[in-house]
Amino acid sequence: MCGIVGYIGNQDAKEVLLKGLEKLEYRGYDSSGIAIMSENGIHVFKEKGRIADLRATVDNDLFAATGIGHTRWATHGVPSQSNAHPHQSVSGRFTLVHNGVIENDELLKQEYLMDIALKSDTDTEVVVQFIEVNVNKGLSFEDAFIKTLKELKGSYAIALLDEQNPDVIYVAKNKSPLLVGLGKGFNVVASDAMAMLQVTDQFVELMDQEIVIVKKEDVTIKNLQGEVIERAPYTAQLDASDIEKGTYPHFMLKEIDEQPLVIRKIIQEYQNATGQLTIDPEIIEAVSEADRIYVIAAGTSYHAGLVGKQFIEKLAKVPVEVHISSEFGYNMPLLSANPLFIFISQSGETADSRAVLVQVKKLGHIALTITNVPGSTLSREADFTLLLHAGPEIAVASTKAYTAQLAVLAILAEVTAKNNGKEIGLDLVRELGIAANAIEVLCDSKEEIEKVAYEYVQMTRNAFFIGRGIDYYVCLEGALKLKEISYIQAEGFAGGELKHGTIALIEEGTPVIALATQESVNLIIRGNVKEVVARGANPLIISMKGLEMTDDRLVIPEVHELLTPLISVVPLQLFAYYAALHRDCDVDKPRNLAKSVTVE
Ligand code: G6P
Repeated sequence: MCGIVGYIGNQDAKEVLLKGLEKLEYRGYDSSGIAIMSENGIHVFKEKGRIADLRATVDNDLFAATGIGHTRWATHGVPSQSNAHPHQSVSGRFTLVHNGVIENDELLKQEYLMDIALKSDTDTEVVVQFIEVNVNKGLSFEDAFIKTLKELKGSYAIALLDEQNPDVIYVAKNKSPLLVGLGKGFNVVASDAMAMLQVTDQFVELMDQEIVIVKKEDVTIKNLQGEVIERAPYTAQLDASDIEKGTYPHFMLKEIDEQPLVIRKIIQEYQNATGQLTIDPEIIEAVSEADRIYVIAAGTSYHAGLVGKQFIEKLAKVPVEVHISSEFGYNMPLLSANPLFIFISQSGETADSRAVLVQVKKLGHIALTITNVPGSTLSREADFTLLLHAGPEIAVASTKAYTAQLAVLAILAEVTAKNNGKEIGLDLVRELGIAANAIEVLCDSKEEIEKVAYEYVQMTRNAFFIGRGIDYYVCLEGALKLKEISYIQAEGFAGGELKHGTIALIEEGTPVIALATQESVNLIIRGNVKEVVARGANPLIISMKGLEMTDDRLVIPEVHELLTPLISVVPLQLFAYYAALHRDCDVDKPRNLAKSVTVE
């Protein structure tokens, strides 16, 4: 989703900004822009499309050591040059970039901006014009800025240049993520540490309703009452090479291949000196004391939650409900007497999930976040965090974060079960190790999956994924992967449910991908395959070794039946990857999608 960068120092700002924006590309965007402050004023360059298109428009001869930049994921107004950020006030004095959604933009327009001819359809332009209106009424810049922020409803991360104060970048934040990075003789602003790792690994977190005055030698944080706030920086634990593709053609393929490594790393991180899996006892106590767990998540993380429910219920014997965060916040079910909330989020920033977390904390409930990003909003605001240790995930389509979420949820279930004296009949460290090896085997047989993918997606506009029990949840994820990156209409279905309506969509040649990794439903899912074949479907059965039958196209190595999602998802990820390649799609940056969805 939208990304912000800013730089103030002595170097050529435009290069730092453009490189920073390139690092934010993974979040998803459809236009971009920069504003730089040179000796003779502010210059704005913006373009629809990719950063490469923006680069082509920037005047390379212009030197400026201060600037702000933005990648925009359209919410208010189509992707276009005029809607791209930065936006400027009528006089040109103020130039601003913004992430988030201003919910009362129409009201503000009607109340304060009726005389102003707005140049864009964005909610963002309202902010910059409103600041100028307030300044024109005689307020100092800082007072006008604060007055404006106090009137905004919704979410924002803002960076602003003021032509009359050329030595400052003004920053503000509410709900949308934003960091200030510290350097020697320069400082930076970024919605994500990755964007500025090129110049610093020292960052200061910002809290909601704070403003920051960023100068090249110092940074001052204030609240909206104008009081100065001291906050120590932290070191971003990111290796710049983690965010490079290396020899891979796409981040997605690299991240699929990293999955065995990630599982082994998770085992290591959650093992104590005697080789036992371990988790902060306070977390285990909270899980054990809960009479019901509510898992809240979106997208792929929601699918991981569905599998996690099986782990927790089967091993730890605590009932679990899994909810889509965007629904839960506005349609809260009747809660149990002593609930525990688990937020699953790769980015830790998903606004839909955060909105629920805020409500849950208001109600006084305990919240645990499972995330890949330490220091992310969901991590900071929950009582506890479990980290995924998957390393940065850049491709929009989540792969290694999903398997990492499953591994961490399995560990949480196992440690809780053991803590409560439950016999689980499974050596999880050993079984996770076997799963990691099995993924390696699958990643080594990519050619076969590539061949199958090309064959199945040749002529198709849609595809179905069917499975039963835990396989069904993996089907939901397999279908999401395929539609996200190849734009083939794909749906995951419970094998038995297809015949209750959706089977009407099966035509001659419709691909139906069936998972058969569970002994208890092996024969019955095959019956469901026969039903669709009888109506012309082109079946692709992926079974687990030991359960295979003659028509199966792919047989995955055998792992513990509870852990099959960790490996059965891999051929589906690869299937989606090759299908997208075959259709010439932008695998890492699919249209319309954002990696970090910071608006509700
Ligand atoms: C976006 C991404 C999905 C992701 C979902 C939840 O929609 O495109 O890939 O699964 O957000 O993100 P989270 O960071 O909360 O796991």
